[in-house]
Amino acid sequence: MEKVLLFCDPGIDDSVAIMFALLHPDIEVVGIVSSYGNVDKEQATNNAAYLLDLAGRLDVPLIGAAAYPLSGEMAVYYPEIHGEEGLGPITPPDTISGTLENFSRVFSIIDEYEGELVIVDVGRQTSLASAFILGEDVMDKVKAFYVMGGAFLVPGNVTPLAEANFFGDPIAANVVATRAHSLTIVPLNVTNYAILTDEVIDQITDQEYNTFTPLIRPIYDYYAEAYQELVLGIEGAPFHDVVTLVALTNPELFDFVEREVTVVDDPSVRGLSVADFRPLSAEEEASIEGAQIAMDFNYDEYINIFIQVMKMEF
Ligand code: RIB
Ligand code: CA
Repeated sequence: MEKVLLFCDPGIDDSVAIMFALLHPDIEVVGIVSSYGNVDKEQATNNAAYLLDLAGRLDVPLIGAAAYPLSGEMAVYYPEIHGEEGLGPITPPDTISGTLENFSRVFSIIDEYEGELVIVDVGRQTSLASAFILGEDVMDKVKAFYVMGGAFLVPGNVTPLAEANFFGDPIAANVVATRAHSLTIVPLNVTNYAILTDEVIDQITDQEYNTFTPLIRPIYDYYAEAYQELVLGIEGAPFHDVVTLVALTNPELFDFVEREVTVVDDPSVRGLSVADFRPLSAEEEASIEGAQIAMDFNYDEYINIFIQVMKMEF
């Protein structure tokens, strides 16, 4: 059982990642850290609270974190992709009130699960970078880090060069890329191909498997329609963030390359993820102490796992 502290910015694909994590029999969600990103921090936090409420899991600590990037600039949100309130056409009820905890709870959770906690970050990395800045020694107690972000030698999604999470706060992304030990990065190289289609959605909504089921078709339709505008001829839409959790539970589905990674914040190439992919000698390869970068995956097996988990009951 993987004990996961999930940093996120729900957002449609983050929301599906939260559902997936809560339903997964091999994942124990020990906390959710919500930040600005796809929507503002407050909305992201309300959405996380709504999903925890639907799951009957208001016992999971919900920690409100970053409201804007480390640079201090204004955050940019993406309602055209995720909806005004981050869940496509769905408005979470006002009655939802998760108990919002202080950011210091991140450190108490790390202490509580010392040596076995996995941090998964599928949002802008501002909050996770802040945890490194504020509590460097404590971060040594984390077992491993999994981050969704970057685009290695492939086009970005918010600029020709950059992926949205790394672009949103490149300074934070670079702190995480250079400070986190046991780091796995799941970039667009893989997530752009983690496409959910109508057929997949039909399969996981053909009956009410759990309390998340009624949300899935409307949020998928909204997100898939947005992607029609972004990617000519796409059938379905890439749900980036779920892939990061599957890289944790099913690493055998992925091809990883270990490289040192930096993220550039120079305005002309903001958010560019850089690693040296030139051929290396065996000796050089063995001496690398970098991140495991997911470069390819088994789509069919991935979809099978996704369907299986999304049909689970609580
Ligand atoms: O580039 C994909 C990432 O940006 C995902 O985390 C998604 O939620 C969006 O914000
Ligand atoms: Ca996200």
